[in-house]
Amino acid sequence: MSTVDLSVKVGPLELANPVLSASGTFGYGLEFAPLTRLERFGGLVTKGLSLEPLRGNPAPRIFETRGGMLNSIGLQNIGIEAFLSDVLPGLADFPPKVVVNLFGYEREDYSTLAARVDAVEHVAAVELNVSCPNVKRGGIQFGHDPGQLEELVASVRKATSKPLIVKLSPNVTSPVALGKAARDGGADILSAINTVIGMAIDTRTRRPRLHTIKGGLSGPAIRPVAVRIVYDVAREVGLPVIGIGGAETADDVLEFMLAGASAVQIGTALFRDPMQPNRILQDLEQRLVSEGVGSVRELIGAINIE
Ligand SMILES: Cc1cc2nc3c(=O)[nH]c(=O)nc-3n(C[C@H](O)[C@H](O)[C@H](O)COP(=O)(O)O)c2cc1C
Repeated sequence: MSTVDLSVKVGPLELANPVLSASGTFGYGLEFAPLTRLERFGGLVTKGLSLEPLRGNPAPRIFETRGGMLNSIGLQNIGIEAFLSDVLPGLADFPPKVVVNLFGYEREDYSTLAARVDAVEHVAAVELNVSCPNVKRGGIQFGHDPGQLEELVASVRKATSKPLIVKLSPNVTSPVALGKAARDGGADILSAINTVIGMAIDTRTRRPRLHTIKGGLSGPAIRPVAVRIVYDVAREVGLPVIGIGGAETADDVLEFMLAGASAVQIGTALFRDPMQPNRILQDLEQRLVSEGVGSVRELIGAINIE
């Protein structure tokens, strides 16, 4: 019997361990129950949910790159009502905390969604995907403008008392400035990062690899970018941070935690193997035992830069 304590407290969100699934890479969680040991995950973050169901973008919308993948799924989802009535009751049988990832195209979409889940018992926290265009403000992404982001988060804050996570975009000059805006709007936690905008071309046909031409890059290729942003944001914003971006192994999880993350989401690695989080947790436990670390919490922000 191991004596290692893997539990973490991410602001108001308490998790049995620091490993969660990342939004959009693990469906709604439940469909993977036969393929993995869901009960071991610290938390599940749902695919992004909107007020109405969405069909997403036309194919091709996934392209594998060296060290990563480009996607332009286009936020396809079943809509918040179908999730709450058809999926969430099944997830309630599992121990991991359920985090709902929400998005919209107007400020009111986000606050309506947040109000909808506020009284729902099995929703442990709300994560806002703010990498969406604000159609009322000329299409600039909510997460790219500190003023808009603060307003958005403040209106969601009024709509729910659930722990509120704001997911930062890496595609900005200063993620720290956006993190501060989210904090000032009332966020409890920041998660970082969403995908990095990228593009690929088939040089024989001269066609873009994705129907939308550009897409979001994820996977190991973006991990150093993510670790840098987690490091900066954790030091300068003063909110707990959840690290995301190319984490595949226990060592990667530790790297994010040393940079300042209190927990880590696993995304693209789940496409290769939905059991990966289980393996990560096993390795993490062994690693802490061999290093004589009693609690994983001791490692948060423990980078040695002397
Ligand atoms: C196919 C795919 C779909 C995604 N869908 C969403 C989404 O709906 N909402 C969101 O906030 N992030 C979404 N993401 C971003 C991931 O949650 C994560 O931030 C990103 O992929 C980086 O982590 P990774 O390198 O571990 O995959 C998606 C990523 C992928 C690859």
